[in-house]
Amino acid sequence: MLNILVGGFYGDEGKGKIASYLSLKDSPHIAIRTGSINAGHTVCYNNNKWKIRIIPSAFVNKSTKLMLGPGALTSIAELIKELKETNSEDRFFMDYHVGIITEKEIYEERNDENLMKSVGSTGQGVGYAEAKRILRILKLAKDYPELSKYTIDVPNTLIEEIEKGSEILAEGTQGTYLSLYHGEYPYVTSRNTTSSGILSEIGIGPKYVKDIIIVFKSFVTRVGNGPLEGELNEEEAEKLGLIEIATVTGRKRRVAPFNIKLAKKAIQLNTATQVAITKLDALFKDAYKVREYEKLPSEAKKWIEDLEDQLKVPITLIGTGEDAMDTIDLRKEKLGE
Ligand code: IMP
Ligand code: MG
Repeated sequence: MLNILVGGFYGDEGKGKIASYLSLKDSPHIAIRTGSINAGHTVCYNNNKWKIRIIPSAFVNKSTKLMLGPGALTSIAELIKELKETNSEDRFFMDYHVGIITEKEIYEERNDENLMKSVGSTGQGVGYAEAKRILRILKLAKDYPELSKYTIDVPNTLIEEIEKGSEILAEGTQGTYLSLYHGEYPYVTSRNTTSSGILSEIGIGPKYVKDIIIVFKSFVTRVGNGPLEGELNEEEAEKLGLIEIATVTGRKRRVAPFNIKLAKKAIQLNTATQVAITKLDALFKDAYKVREYEKLPSEAKKWIEDLEDQLKVPITLIGTGEDAMDTIDLRKEKLGE
């Protein structure tokens, strides 16, 4: 079966951390990523830290095969760099139709004043490359001989594996409100970031989906422009210890408190079946690195229980620290699995 991980706010919810935990815990046969190199993921495990932009965060489990679906885009340089840094070249596969971003699209995007100044793009050439794909002039992975050792028919491989009973983890990127269709246009990215978009990018229909796990951070952050309800000024955010630095661009992230209205709507847009909450320790310092629910401070437990009452979807995973294993896993208790 297929499990999908999707971001519920504006990206940077901690999907990379949850994906790395799930890969270590569940050992999926394949982890597949969507999206492109504008999306940074931070993965910490065993005192190592990686900042990756294109390979699945599940790379920390050495037995998991890593794939990019046909809807993904990458630059060859970034892909090769990450495969080396994570030592995962021999278990990586990409679909023939992955779009290839070149220096030209990066240059074009960085000189596009509307995208860079008004939207606040990350400047990785993703929007320009996707526009060229729509115009049918973008080159794909199959057009580059140096990629031939990685290229396969990904949807076909996924279906064969699912039908054999293998478990697949699809790692979405960015967040629901950056979706080209469902986000706050024009302050959005160049793809549909929701669960249905993830399915279409990897080439599988909904029949095989088991769970859709939506990831929310314990507060909301946004990089780039566009609305952010309840935005704190930098000083307030600093005082609360909520300032983060963006993985790809190095910009300071804008900060707002957890937004229940956005969370509810995101659950609908994604038909989420489980909720993962990350960075609980940012709100409750004594929750740091706690790995058992009973050991959480009582205010933290109350916060989680109130939230679950409102969202009406089980909160099954709770992140309490940067390491992949700093995770409280309530799936057995909540779902009987
Ligand atoms: P673009 O996708 O680089 O054009 O950026 C469009 C908007 O989406 C900008 O506000 C970016 O900051 C934001 N964005 C794109 N990718 C990510 C991501 O992975 N995390 C957070 N924001 C992102
Ligand atoms: Mg990120």
